[in-house]
Amino acid sequence: MKLEAGQVGVVTGAANGIGRAVAAALVDRGLRVAVADVDADALEQTAADLGDQVIAVPTDVAELDQVRALADRTLAAFGRVDLVVNNAGVGAGGPSWAIDPANWNRVWSVNVGGVVNGIHVFTPHLIAAGHGHIVNTASLAGLTVGMFGAPYAASKSAIIAISESLRGELGLIAPDVGVTVVCPGPVDTQMFRGLTELAAPDGAAQQSETMPPEVLAQLAPMMDAIAEMAKDIVPTGRAAEIILAAVESGKLYATTHPVMAHAARERVDTILESFGSPAG
Ligand SMILES: NC(=O)c1ccc[n+]([C@@H]2O[C@H](COP(=O)([O-])OP(=O)(O)OC[C@H]3O[C@@H](n4cnc5c(N)ncnc54)[C@H](O)[C@@H]3O)[C@@H](O)[C@H]2O)c1
Repeated sequence: MKLEAGQVGVVTGAANGIGRAVAAALVDRGLRVAVADVDADALEQTAADLGDQVIAVPTDVAELDQVRALADRTLAAFGRVDLVVNNAGVGAGGPSWAIDPANWNRVWSVNVGGVVNGIHVFTPHLIAAGHGHIVNTASLAGLTVGMFGAPYAASKSAIIAISESLRGELGLIAPDVGVTVVCPGPVDTQMFRGLTELAAPDGAAQQSETMPPEVLAQLAPMMDAIAEMAKDIVPTGRAAEIILAAVESGKLYATTHPVMAHAARERVDTILESFGSPAG
C-alpha cells in the first residue's frame, strides 16, 4: 500500500521504542495517527511531541474492549483507518521450567492476544474500505532457535503463523488489504537495553533472584551472544523505515539484520533434513 498524506494509521505500543518511531515516520509522511499504549503518561508525551495530527488513546491491547474503544476513538477523530501496526509487546526470560506460569500468560495475552485483538477489531474496517495494511510485530526470536526466552519466542512464532494465515485469507477475500510481519533483530529500545543490562557483569546478580544458581552458571555463552548482538543494534528510526518500506512494497516479512539470516537458515535446514530426499 502506498502511504499518502491524509491516510490514517493506528500504532500500538507507540509511547516508546519502535512504535513511537513508526508513528513519527507516519506523521512525517503526512498521515494522521492514533497512538496507543498502556503507559498513559508516556503516551501523552509522545502524542504531544508528534504534533496535532496525532491522538493518544490509552489502551491495554490484551483487553478486547479497550482495542474496540481504540477503533471507535480513531474513527470518531479521523473517519477512516488505512494502516494498523500491532506493535505492543513484552518479554520474559529464564529456563522454560522456572518461568512462573503467570508470566507465560502475561506474555501470551499481550503479545499474541494484542495482535489477535487488533486483527479482530480492525480487519473488518479495512475489508469494508477495500484497501489497507496490517503490520504485526514478531521478532527474529520467532524465526530462530533460541533459549531462555521461550514465552517470548513462542509468542513471536505464533504472531508469524497468524500473520501468514491472515495474509493468505485476505489475499483471497480482500486482495488490496496487505499484511506484513516484522521480525527485528536488536533495535535500540528500552526492551533491548533491558536485555543487555542483564548480560552486563552485574546483571547476573539480578538474574540470580529468578534463576537457580546451577542454571545461572550455564548462561555465560548466551550472555556473550547478547553482548555480541548488541554490536549490531539498529536505531529505532531505521527500523521504522524498514517497516514502512515493507508496507509500501507489500512484503510479507520485514527484517532488520541481513547478518542474522544464517540463524533462520539453520532452523529451516534442520527441518528440511528431517524430510530426507524424495527418493527416501
Ligand atoms: N527492541 C528490539 O530489539 C526488538 C527485537 C525484536 C522484536 N521487538 C518487538 O518490537 C515491539 C516493540 O518493542 P520495543 O523494542 O520498541 O519495546 P519498548 O519496550 O521500547 O516499547 C514497547 C511499548 O509497548 C507498550 N506496551 C506493553 N504492554 C502493552 C499493552 N498491554 N498494551 C499496550 N501497550 C503495551 C509499552 O508500554 C511500551 O511503550 C515489541 O513487540 C517487541 O517484542 C523488539
